[in-house]
Amino acid sequence: MNMAITGNRGMGKTSVLMKFEDIGRRSECLTLRLSNYEGNVKNIIDFTDYITANLKREILSRKPVEKKIEGMKDWIGTLKPTIGWRDISLTVERQQVVQEMFRERLAKLWSETKDDYKAILLLIDEAESLESVEGILTFLREVFQRISTDQKYMVVLAGKLNFPERMSESFSPLNRFFPSSRLTPFKEDEVRSYIIRKLATVDVGIDEDVLQYIAKRCEGHPYVLVAMCYLLFDSLSEKENHLTKEILERSDEKINARLAQDFFSPMYHPLTPRAKEIILKIASNIKGLEFTFNEAVDWVGKPKNFVSPYFKELLRKGVLNKPERGRYQIFHTLFLEYLKKMAEEEERKHR
Ligand SMILES: Nc1ncnc2c1ncn2[C@@H]1O[C@H](COP(=O)(O)OP(=O)(O)OP(=O)(O)O)[C@@H](O)[C@H]1O
Ligand SMILES: [Mg+2]
Repeated sequence: MNMAITGNRGMGKTSVLMKFEDIGRRSECLTLRLSNYEGNVKNIIDFTDYITANLKREILSRKPVEKKIEGMKDWIGTLKPTIGWRDISLTVERQQVVQEMFRERLAKLWSETKDDYKAILLLIDEAESLESVEGILTFLREVFQRISTDQKYMVVLAGKLNFPERMSESFSPLNRFFPSSRLTPFKEDEVRSYIIRKLATVDVGIDEDVLQYIAKRCEGHPYVLVAMCYLLFDSLSEKENHLTKEILERSDEKINARLAQDFFSPMYHPLTPRAKEIILKIASNIKGLEFTFNEAVDWVGKPKNFVSPYFKELLRKGVLNKPERGRYQIFHTLFLEYLKKMAEEEERKHR
């Protein structure tokens, strides 16, 4: 079975893949975790080359196959780069040839390695950057769908993927081939047990009100939780071994500043100028985290069709969530607080 894992920034997609990688290796699977295609993958051919090159590297770097390296040479010999095919706009016919070649490579790889491995696991992180390359995900589906079931390949996509969210595609072949799971925030008791468990390993205690404060403030967001805990722990002096309200108070500013610097600002700054303007307008008018599209249009004071493309951008970049039709949500309260500060600064500049 194959699958897709989706979730906002910092929700733990890469962490889950690392866990899968660990399980894969321990279960004697040939396991490959890929990310960082930017610049490497501009089309389908680049992609097949990228995967095969990485598979080759992985095989060569693992001990178990060493003895069989002779047999592998055969397979590796078939991995000549596919130069001559580097047209950006591949015709359908060519795509099919590439697909066929790639599938043959994978079949050959399986037949060469099946005595050494129980399965071959491809973990594809940051798959949203592949989604933007015309046809790649469909290509992946076509290739792996036609690989016979006795060739044991499993593909896991992870990223801020769009295809599972689009209603029109709920029953699409892509969704059926990569059934998706969305990573949701930790529940309060999960946050509590995480903190208590971690602190126990270093013999540090925590007051109930501090525990409650973190559990509430982080909203179950893994990145925010871990950052808060780390910064709080880091504020303990040599002699202290208990997290109290005073320690919390004295590190509060540092926590906000570091989250802004490491997490929120890298989300805000790459936005287009108009999207920035719009999100700041929303942040200065909003009550709570949720609002409707119509409210936003009022606050921005521009026509709907002007605002709407920027909403798409804000959704795509994970700044906004869309819990239901017409309703939106800023992804985290601490991010909203950051935005409010940015809005105040902007206003001061223009005064
Ligand atoms: N299950 C977990 N338990 C504890 N901490 C976690 C867990 N999952 C994630 N984290 C923490 O959250 C941080 C962010 O997770 P991760 O990098 O996996 O998110 P991501 O979804 O890949 O983010 P991005 O969208 O930026 O790629 C990790 O560095 C880790 O500290
Ligand atoms: Mg990640």
